[in-house]
Amino acid sequence: MSKSDLIIRVAGEGGEGVISAGDFIAAACARAGLEVYTFKTFPAEIRGGYAMYQTRVSDNRIYNQGDTFDVFCAFNGEAYEMNKHLLKPGIAFVYDAESDFQPEEHEGVHTYPITMSKTAKEIGSKQAKNLVALGALSELFNIQKDVLWEVISNKFASKGDDVQTKNRQAFEKGMEQAKALTKADEYKVADPKETKDVIVISGNDAVGLGAILGKLDFFSAYPITPATEIAKYVSAQIPKTGGTLIQAEDEIASIAQVLGASYGGARSMTATSGPGVALMGEMIGMSAMSETPALIVDVQRGGPSTGMPTKHEQSDLMIAINGGHGDCPRVVMAVEDVADCIYMTVEALNITEEYQIPVLLLTDGSLAFSTQTVPTPDPAKIKIVERKRWNGEGEYKRYELTEDGISSMCDPGTPGGMHIGTGLEHNEKGAPFMAPANRQKMQDKRFNKTDRLLKEYKAIEIDGNPDAEAEIGIITWGSTIGVVREAVARLNAEGISAKGFYPKLIWPMPAEQYEAFASKCKKILVPEVNYLGQLSHFIRAETSIQPIPYTICGGLPFNPAMIVEKAKEVI
Ligand code: COA
Repeated sequence: MSKSDLIIRVAGEGGEGVISAGDFIAAACARAGLEVYTFKTFPAEIRGGYAMYQTRVSDNRIYNQGDTFDVFCAFNGEAYEMNKHLLKPGIAFVYDAESDFQPEEHEGVHTYPITMSKTAKEIGSKQAKNLVALGALSELFNIQKDVLWEVISNKFASKGDDVQTKNRQAFEKGMEQAKALTKADEYKVADPKETKDVIVISGNDAVGLGAILGKLDFFSAYPITPATEIAKYVSAQIPKTGGTLIQAEDEIASIAQVLGASYGGARSMTATSGPGVALMGEMIGMSAMSETPALIVDVQRGGPSTGMPTKHEQSDLMIAINGGHGDCPRVVMAVEDVADCIYMTVEALNITEEYQIPVLLLTDGSLAFSTQTVPTPDPAKIKIVERKRWNGEGEYKRYELTEDGISSMCDPGTPGGMHIGTGLEHNEKGAPFMAPANRQKMQDKRFNKTDRLLKEYKAIEIDGNPDAEAEIGIITWGSTIGVVREAVARLNAEGISAKGFYPKLIWPMPAEQYEAFASKCKKILVPEVNYLGQLSHFIRAETSIQPIPYTICGGLPFNPAMIVEKAKEVI
């Protein structure tokens, strides 16, 4: 029997090829026309420590990584110890036999011992251990072998014939061992479907793709986990579109370069993580004050300080909204999934250009490395909004007070367009000017832009009939949205009236919509992956809603079962 929604978890030690194994399973299933949603977690060390990769495969749309696994493959004793409490009756458990550990008896669990380390050693390649496991998994769970091998051999093609030969041997040995076992569980990846026009892409690469589709001209960043892959992706693509990428000496330099390039007329962005945003605070203020467009992508990780660099957390909301000094207008947006990573990067570039205001786009560590199936983007359907440019008529005033609240920009060197770009308070021409009435006028000008954005940018999704009463309303943001979508569906299927409210524009806060949603719900639950309940804090500050925070901060995302259980408890 095949289960239409199957979760395969592979775990072992960093350096054993766990991450590659998971990538191969996901890619092979996606090529077979199935939907995939992956989650991986690994240590901050290059070698050693616990690494885990979970692939959820379905022939239906998937919104999150799922509750727990149906199939578990343990590469070593630590992976087994970390997961043995989840080995419930019915689960399929594949493990490295004749190695450093011997699993206990687990009643009702279907066990498949495969000599991964020993076989790899016999073949003469320790690295091929993951291929023994993949051979066994493909045999036991109907992962298309030809497709899987094609993906593997393409990945390692540059490593030479010896690696390919040993990998192939390991793959076949794994299959042979699995064939000799009696399959007792019910799990099988769904048969291949007609392949769709999709790409399988990670959150970080998707941000890079969004940047390219959004006609990015200039990118500068300093490498930082978990954001570095965005720069890596952009560095490979931007030369083809005539743009420029610089690896700066630090985050302050990178945002300064972004502002410089933007002042010079280029659509510009940087990508970093929480520590980088902390360093960029002063220059984000400069962007707001000088009305210079700048997109800052923050791939959130566990903080503060160096914290948990490779782990998932949603704890940069406060710094994104309030970081820096003075009254500093900015726009904060947060993506839900990999598709959003593409299209909201385009939107964020459009917004920063149109409103001449810094935009912070928040993703997170779990999305950064999660690969998901996304319909292939059509560049022809991507809408690009350009900044308002001076038409060369009359006297140029960089900060002219206009009807639509936006002043025209003018590239340096334009005849007649001489002006000062400054972080100092200024008059309409840009000249430093600190008279009280002028200060008030200019603050109003800068903040009116966020008021206007609130009216024009509708980025809230609601699950359920907005006018219907509900026992519980769940408000959440970022990648927790996908988990809540499934939880809301499960609650409704159980006859519990539940609705979901998912803001993608976080700041300025669409308070009226929050109020309207909450007015129809008896209780408001706000799950988020941080200690303080940061969104709950802003809801309390900006609305009359009394949210019930539900926070976790262990480096892992929520799963739908946790939300369902909490919602029932709250009701
Ligand atoms: N044949 C040949 N090569 C193989 C192979 C096989 N069968 N299986 C894996 N490999 C290679 C991979 O291609 C990869 O090579 P690369 O480093 O040249 O890309 C390498 O072996 C590691 O395998 P991989 O599957 O990618 O990872 P892993 O599961 O072994 O885990 C990491 C290792 C990724 C967790 C760890 O090395 C890492 O990078 N940790 C994060 C470090 C970090 O970011 N720290 C934060 C600092 S602030």
